Amino acid sequence: MTDSHDPSGDTSRRRFLTGSLAAGGALAAATVAKAASSDPAITNVQPWANELGEGVDAAPYGKPSRYESHVIRRDVPWLTADPISSINFTPLHDLDGIITPNGLAFERHHGGVAQINPNKYRLMINGLVDQPLVFTLADLKRFPRYNKVFFLECAANTGMEWRGSQLNGVQFTHGMIHNVMYTGVMLRDVLAEAGVKTAGKWLLAEGADASGMTRSIPMEKALDDCMIAFKMNGESLRPEQGYPVRLVVPGWEGNMWIKWLRRLEVGDQPWHHREETSKYTDLLANGIARRFTWQMDAKSVITNPSPQAPILHGKGQTVLTGVAWSGHGKISGVDVTIDGGVSWHKARIDGPSFDRSMHRFYYEFDWDGKPLLLQSRAHDTTGYVQPTKDQLRAIRGTNSIYHNNGIQTWSINSNGEAENVEIS
Ligand code: MTE
Ligand code: CO
Repeated sequence: MTDSHDPSGDTSRRRFLTGSLAAGGALAAATVAKAASSDPAITNVQPWANELGEGVDAAPYGKPSRYESHVIRRDVPWLTADPISSINFTPLHDLDGIITPNGLAFERHHGGVAQINPNKYRLMINGLVDQPLVFTLADLKRFPRYNKVFFLECAANTGMEWRGSQLNGVQFTHGMIHNVMYTGVMLRDVLAEAGVKTAGKWLLAEGADASGMTRSIPMEKALDDCMIAFKMNGESLRPEQGYPVRLVVPGWEGNMWIKWLRRLEVGDQPWHHREETSKYTDLLANGIARRFTWQMDAKSVITNPSPQAPILHGKGQTVLTGVAWSGHGKISGVDVTIDGGVSWHKARIDGPSFDRSMHRFYYEFDWDGKPLLLQSRAHDTTGYVQPTKDQLRAIRGTNSIYHNNGIQTWSINSNGEAENVEIS
């Protein structure tokens, strides 16, 4: 089609013509559209062409089309007793590409959303430092800024599925994840201003919200790639994502990405005795808990078709799509099966491939209208391959609810409806 970035009008017109000719050549092979007919949706003048629309002053901060009002975060009321300490889920089945829109990024709060006045915002650094310091938001913005796309996945994502398929929708089984571009400063640059003493091996990060959320982060990670972010997808963080400032801990479980960041204390050991670590460990069948399992393993899921997004067009040309991510690097490939693992196909990854970011994959196939069993399997750049749920259970048992990165199965019936199932 036309190349709108081409500075020369002539070239782009020529390209447009070539594009049209190519499309014309494909006429005989039309497989998705109907032959031109008397469809009133194209032959009749529609209301939106009969009246003038709203002007540029109608929506100073824009909203999605009114026809997209079903694209929302949702919660599962029976999962928690109280929405203040709860979770909602990203509608993965309604999204495409790799970026989660800010208003749709899942939320997890332990004490509700803090509404912080940016003028009263302060970040303190204390503990084993040469000089304890207090930063304003404006102070933080004077360090060199960086832009990075990362996924944030709650360790509890897919946690309800350990014992068997449970929740009927990718939003609920896999929606405790979002993937956005952060703008912020490097934590190491800010720490350097206070001067971390050589005995400083751990960092306690504390939120300003009512939950008084505190988490211990090894100094090695803090000095490596952690960020103090104030923007996501170009605009200020939303209140629910930690406005005005949150910690970004690339590839590690969401729990450590402290929102409404107010204090960083440098210490010589972790503060785990003060934290809810019992909740964020993986309890094995033998009663021993896996701890310090912060880095998220490679995982993938098919978002369409899925229980909330059935195949509505009947048999024929069909687009299967999904997302894959790894806390250890990039996704090097995704395999897809539509027959429950009898045959696997290489999915097509499209869109930017960033380290510890979501990747988007597609698999186009001709649906014969018969039932399907869909699965995806991610590979990351370390050579790791996403395991089956049974492989995970063999090692971890079913006592833990955290870190379930097993392969998800959707069963599709001949009507195109999808269901969460397990096959062995
Ligand atoms: N930070 C504070 N201050 N308070 C919280 O309740 N929840 C944590 C983490 N940081 C939390 C927090 C958990 S468990 C997760 S999974 C992520 O924030 C969720 O980030 P999100 O709300 O942007 O999705
Ligand atoms: Co979490």
